[in-house]
Amino acid sequence: MTQRPSQSRTRLVMGNWKMNGSLLANAALLQALVAGASRARGAQLAVCAPFPYLPQLQELLAGSLISWGAQDVSVHEQGAYTGEVSGSMLRDFACTWVLCGHSERRAMHGESSSLVAAKTSAALALGLAPVVCVGETLADRDAGRVEQVIAEQLEPILGLGAAALNKLVLAYEPVWAIGTGRTASPEQAQAVHGFIRSALTRSEAGQTRILYGGSVKAANAAALFSQPDIDGALVGGASLVADEFLNIAAA
Ligand code: PGA
Repeated sequence: MTQRPSQSRTRLVMGNWKMNGSLLANAALLQALVAGASRARGAQLAVCAPFPYLPQLQELLAGSLISWGAQDVSVHEQGAYTGEVSGSMLRDFACTWVLCGHSERRAMHGESSSLVAAKTSAALALGLAPVVCVGETLADRDAGRVEQVIAEQLEPILGLGAAALNKLVLAYEPVWAIGTGRTASPEQAQAVHGFIRSALTRSEAGQTRILYGGSVKAANAAALFSQPDIDGALVGGASLVADEFLNIAAA
């Protein structure tokens, strides 16, 4: 566990809308977020939306305190890759962020840790800030394999080197806590964040932020954020409700 002063890493609260939204619903949500963004009290706010809504994010969030991004990126720059979206396309809509290796993509789209690292690398090369997600399943946890699984998922990311690591964000999202209402306790989360921090320290990456994700809501955010190695949150369901998301940021 690192003893760096927490203020050296600005808190980041990022919404992951997943496959939710509509032009109408997004407009109301984004307007409420922009209006309430000052409640975040110095925390950075961001939202990651489905690809078709990136122009809407650009239109409604440009000049605000809220940055935006996408939920996936191709490893390829352009060409015959039907359905894929490249990092330069994300840059065309002024994305700052892109999620890489969310557990839903690992589980439902067969993304391996080496593919996630390749996506991370492609994003970094284009000046995007990747948010690389790692996390164990309940079966892994019950089998006492948490650190082993996290280490395996991290290995190709650590291989990108300190300069890359300092530019990206990691998100620890235990699969059993995502969308289940069952959050990791602050102590459970901190134990894994501390483990990840040690790995980063060994790789000489001192600036990497580590977000926690998995059923984060306003009621549990403050306790999570009080942990020394939790630098913010990646928020799914609760990011679709403006007041709840802003209350998380204010926690
Ligand atoms: P949740 O999702 O907050 O709805 O649990 C988090 C995530 O998958 O990023």
